[in-house]
Amino acid sequence: MTEQFEYVKPIMVESIEDCDFYHSMHVPGIGEVSGDWDLRAVVDDYLGGVDFSGKRVLDVGTASGFLSFEMEKRGAEVVSLDLDDAARFEFVPHFKQQHDLGKIVNNRRRTLQRRKNSWLFRKSCG
Ligand SMILES: C[S@@+](CC[C@H](N)C(=O)[O-])C[C@H]1O[C@@H](n2cnc3c(N)ncnc32)[C@H](O)[C@@H]1O
Repeated sequence: MTEQFEYVKPIMVESIEDCDFYHSMHVPGIGEVSGDWDLRAVVDDYLGGVDFSGKRVLDVGTASGFLSFEMEKRGAEVVSLDLDDAARFEFVPHFKQQHDLGKIVNNRRRTLQRRKNSWLFRKSCG
């Protein structure tokens, strides 16, 4: 039996308030946004000095997508993906076993959605 996969439906994220940026980056029409990681000064090294012109790239684990957008700027056609749901995150059980895994997954789910919003928001800014 052949499995059927669908691309994610386009979602408009209209407010930056609904976003958590993993990467610091320039968002056209908005300006600089701060994220957990700022790769801007090292992006060429981070991308391994590859010539992306005419290349197709699969960016697995794109987060806010800074690297996808940089590879696009350098001429690549990029498909970005990230987790569809935080429940798929492979949490390592803590040895004390006193953590509420349901609560952890729910927090992660909220963060993941806000991260995905940041990618969608950045994408919609051109
Ligand atoms: C450490 S961040 C790295 C972000 C970016 N690639 C970078 O280098 O700056 C890892 C990202 O991978 C995603 N991720 C984790 N497991 C994944 C999986 N099984 N499939 C796709 N993405 C995954 C996380 O949600 C997160 O956005």
